[in-house]
Amino acid sequence: MAVMVTGGAGYIGSHMVLALLDRGEKVVVLDNLSTGFASAVPTNVPLVVGDMGDQALVASAMREHAIDTVVHFAAKIVVPESVSDPLGYYLNNTVKARALIETAVECGVKHFVFSSTAAVYGDVSGDPVDEDDPTSPVSPYGRSKLMTEWILRDTAAAHPLKFVVLRYFNVAGADPKGRTGQSTPAATHLIKVACQTALGQRPFLEIFGTDFPTRDGSCLRDYIHVTDLANAHIASLDHLRAGGDNLTLNCGYGQGYSVLEVVETVKRVSGVDFETRRSGRRAGDPAAIVATGERVREVLGWTPQYDDLDTIVTHALEWEKHLTTPNAR
Ligand SMILES: NC(=O)c1ccc[n+]([C@@H]2O[C@H](COP(=O)([O-])OP(=O)(O)OC[C@H]3O[C@@H](n4cnc5c(N)ncnc54)[C@H](O)[C@@H]3O)[C@@H](O)[C@H]2O)c1
Repeated sequence: MAVMVTGGAGYIGSHMVLALLDRGEKVVVLDNLSTGFASAVPTNVPLVVGDMGDQALVASAMREHAIDTVVHFAAKIVVPESVSDPLGYYLNNTVKARALIETAVECGVKHFVFSSTAAVYGDVSGDPVDEDDPTSPVSPYGRSKLMTEWILRDTAAAHPLKFVVLRYFNVAGADPKGRTGQSTPAATHLIKVACQTALGQRPFLEIFGTDFPTRDGSCLRDYIHVTDLANAHIASLDHLRAGGDNLTLNCGYGQGYSVLEVVETVKRVSGVDFETRRSGRRAGDPAAIVATGERVREVLGWTPQYDDLDTIVTHALEWEKHLTTPNAR
């Protein structure tokens, strides 16, 4: 039996592949390399290059590798892009995810872990968000992921497929051993962009919106270290394999940092006082999203190891420096 990681050549998926290998699991990656990198997949892991919507290809890979578990990361992930290209987002994140789920059912996959997002909650009041809070996404991206949650839930009610939905808050940092990290040059993640600016790869950092109803006017987000997040997936697999119930869990630390606080941290950790420029709000950005974060600890026994903004920034900066070395990804 083996685990299929869709989007395993991407940022978070590549950390999950390492976490699975570190505990001796058999892993297969399915990725169309639209934003991922073949070089992010360790050479001893089979990489199926193709689209998750290609049901013949995916079924053949599932049967060949005796896949009993799918960990599904593959998606388009940029909120403002989803506003300008909603049909592209619904196609990739909903329609093709539906195809993947159907193929999984047809191939007898037992367990499915899905990367959802805090964006399913929408413009929350600023109080920490609980899993039972209403979902009211404000972007096509959030809606495309929420629909996939529904598809998964309804499918699990009708077929022998068990799932864990993990709603990630803001994922950041890189593998503490320096084996992988966020490699997309045009990534829009704040900590990555701030690290690139500190290293002189961008002339300045743009701060989108300083008139939000938050403590300093900039957006508040709950940043979770990518390795802690990968470990929450491992705990989800253990839960499902032990016969546990279907779950929907927030993945965040329950601590919000503002954009301005993150910028100050990156300046302090890097020792570079880079330029920032204040711009207007971006479409689809809620003012504050912070997780309650308790349920994932209670239900899965998950204990974060890197719950510290300085550590997250240090690992992100180390990866960004690694990317500047010749032949680095
Ligand atoms: N990065 C974050 O802060 C964050 C927050 C919440 C949720 N998420 C979710 O986590 C998941 C992974 O995000 P990431 O940051 O690693 O992004 P990423 O772009 O680095 O990885 C996505 C991967 O999926 C692949 N892919 C996309 N569409 C595909 C398709 N149709 N078929 C096959 N492969 C396909 C890409 O090539 C890429 O390797 C996504 O589902 C995203 O919605 C991310």
